[in-house]
Formats: sequence, C-alpha cells, structure tokens
Amino acid sequence: MSETLERWSTRRAFILAVTGAAVGLGNIWRFPYITGENGGAAFLVLYVAFVLLLGLPVMMAEIMVGRAGRRSPVGSLGHLAAAAGASRHWRLLGLFGAFTVFCILSFYSVVSGWSIEFLVASINGDFRGAAPAEIGAGFDAFLADPARMTFNHTLFLAMTMLVVAAGVAKGLERLNNLLMPLLYLLLLLLAGYAATTDGFGTALVWLFQPDLSAVTPLVVMHAMGHAFFTLAVGACALMAYGAYMPDHQSLPRAVGAVAVLDVTVALLAGIAIFSVVFSQGMDPGEGPGLMFVTLPIAFAELPWGALWLSVFFLLLLLATWTSSINLAEPMVATLQGVGLPRGVAAALVGLAVWLLGLLTVFSFSSLAEWRPLFGMNGFELVSTIPPEVFLPLGGLLIALFAAWVVPEATARRALGVGDGGFVAWRAVTRWVAIPLTLVVLVAGLI
Ligand code: PHE
Ligand code: NA
Repeated sequence: MSETLERWSTRRAFILAVTGAAVGLGNIWRFPYITGENGGAAFLVLYVAFVLLLGLPVMMAEIMVGRAGRRSPVGSLGHLAAAAGASRHWRLLGLFGAFTVFCILSFYSVVSGWSIEFLVASINGDFRGAAPAEIGAGFDAFLADPARMTFNHTLFLAMTMLVVAAGVAKGLERLNNLLMPLLYLLLLLLAGYAATTDGFGTALVWLFQPDLSAVTPLVVMHAMGHAFFTLAVGACALMAYGAYMPDHQSLPRAVGAVAVLDVTVALLAGIAIFSVVFSQGMDPGEGPGLMFVTLPIAFAELPWGALWLSVFFLLLLLATWTSSINLAEPMVATLQGVGLPRGVAAALVGLAVWLLGLLTVFSFSSLAEWRPLFGMNGFELVSTIPPEVFLPLGGLLIALFAAWVVPEATARRALGVGDGGFVAWRAVTRWVAIPLTLVVLVAGLI
C-alpha cells in the first residue's frame, strides 16, 4: 500500500477533526454517569491526572505513527515496522484497534439514538411542564421499548455510514466546529443555571473535594479507561486521522488544545448535571440514564426550556456523529486495505455494527438479566471492557511501538517538535505512560 497524498487543508482543519473525534458522548453522557458510579471527586482527580500523564503522550504517539506512516493504521504500522527492521506482526495492532472500535461503536450508536428520540420529544414539547418523576418514567418506558430504540439506532448508524462511505467527513467536521462553540455556550448557560439551584454547592463539593478512601484499584482502572475513551486514544482511530496531518504543524500543541477542550466540556456537563441531581434528591450513581433524565428536568425550569433542550440535543447529536465517524474509520480503512471499495467496506461495517448494537438494545429489556461474563449484561460488557481494557492495552502497545520501535529521526520529524520536546515526550512515554498503564491494568484486572 503506498503513501497517501491527501492532507487536511489547514492546521485548523486537523485540530477540528481531532476535536470532533474527541468531544462526544464521552464528555456529556459517560463522564457524569461514570463519575457518579465511582464516587465523585477522587475519580475526577484520577481521570484528569491520567489525561495529562497518559492521554497526552499516548495521543501524540498514536497520531505520530499515522503521520509518519501516511497509510491506514494497519498499513502505517506494517510500513514503519518494516523500515525499522521490526516484526511485521505490529500490523495486528491495527486489527485489534478495529475490533475495539467495533465493540464501542455498537453501543455508541444506540445511545446516540437516544439523543434522536429526545430531540424529537423536546421538539414536540413533551417535556414542557413535566414533573421530574414523569421525565424519569418516560425514559424508563423508552428503554423498555426495543422497537423504538432499534429504529433510532438504525437511523444514527445509517447517518454515520453514509458520511463515511461518501468520504465527506471533512465537510461535517467544519459544520461541527462551527457549532461546537454553541454547544460550549449552552453548557456554560446550563452551568450558570445550575449555580442558582440549591444543589450547586453540594455538587461542587462532591465533584471537587476528593475522598481518597473511596479509591480502589478498580476505580483507578475506570478512571484510566475513561481518559483513553474520552480522548479517543488507543484504538488506532486517531492514527487514521494522523495520516492526513499537514507537514508543518506541531503535534503537541494541537493535542494540548484538544485535551483542554475535552476536559472542560466534561466539567461543565458534570457541574450542570450534578447540581440537578442534588437539588432533586436524585442518586448520582443512577447509571446510563443520568444525563437523559437530569437535563430535561433542568431545561424544563428555564425560560424557553423546550427550545434550548432541542438545540442541546441537536448539538449533542452533531458531536456524537463526528465521533462515530472517527470510530468507523479504522474498520473501513482496514477493509479497504484488503481491496474492498470504500462503499462496500462501509456497508459491511454498518451491518456488523448494527447487529452487535442489538445486544445493547435488548440489554435494557428482555436481555437485561442475561449476564454471560463477569456478572455483566451485554450493554455493560461492550460499554466497559473495550473502553477500560482494550483501549489502555491498545494505547500501551501503540506507545511501545512509537517510543521503542519507530526510528528516532522519523519519530522526531512526525511529532514536529524540537530536540527538547522530543526527549521529553520520549522520556514520559517510556518511563511514565507505559509502566503506569501496565500497572493500573494489571492491578485493576486482578
Ligand atoms: N472520544 C469519543 C467521546 O468522548 C469516543 C471515542 C472513543 C471516539 C474512541 C473514537 C475512538 O465520545
Ligand atoms: Na471525549
């Protein structure tokens, strides 16, 4: 497979694409509910520490490999391994990434479908004047209805695979990033509203005053997994985007900007959601329904609430759309690598993901108590194991490859940094990121 000549048209376009991949359900849906299930502030501190210590260096490593290889993930890994005289088996890492995003996209699509359902409901004004208990009951009724959920899952996945097949993702990134500031603004507005509720103080203490006695190896592993998930690192998905990165651009600066944005979006969402949780006397560990129940309650109390809520779900949908396009890329690129036309590859990936997605759909009704592994049902399995085990494992292997296998001159050029920057990146990757990931994974799994 030869080198791609395609490039993101500007430096900004690259940052926009990576931001599109990073900001999504991970920030607004998953971060609050995982934080809620893991006790709050201590989890938050760990997650931010992992973003800095592991997320940033490994994200640089991953994009650097794509930029140095200028091919699909499998192609870049194989090409760079061959150039370094290392084993061609490093290519398998690309396949592992494809398998990881396969599992992730299956539940990502279903949950994004919930946003479609809620968008339509809020446009219909279904939440206007509804009491919190009614909103909660409505969500439960929706979860118990596999037909409606399958419909939305199908719609969302079709939207994703059409863009992927047509290769117009760059257009969507632009749109997304035109509207991203609006999403940010809305979250700011919500956090501002949250400050007027009587749950605000409790929410701040709960989010920012760590209780270290709550920390167990499992909590640490959850926090690490979420850091990888929210930054979209560890599945070779960003590696695919790195292949199109323009030549003269500093990678660390781009990555730093994305991480700041990603973390602040999560914090704003967390502040808004937990203020509602505490002012309504709800349980922070409510689970995957947390955002879908709290935000309609919050907006219902705001002037023009139904309108804002519709805008919010529209923007959330756009953010998840650009993330899911990135999730599909490693699979489609791999199939293209074995000679399938892009459209056929996208159709096959779409079909396979759709089928696995049904497991998540039925996990909220008939299969809720079917727990084939580790006492987890289907949704719990695909939404826990791939983000918390596969992504860190993939990230670990990517980091090993980037910091030990890729020749120094190649790595330095592809990172686009000076000597000092390169030495710092390599030292942090070799002696902090790699051992830390390994220790947390092993401790968590035991
Ligand atoms: N980062 C995305 C989010 O937070 C999810 C994602 C994970 C995207 C892995 C691509 C790869 O929603
Ligand atoms: Na994210």
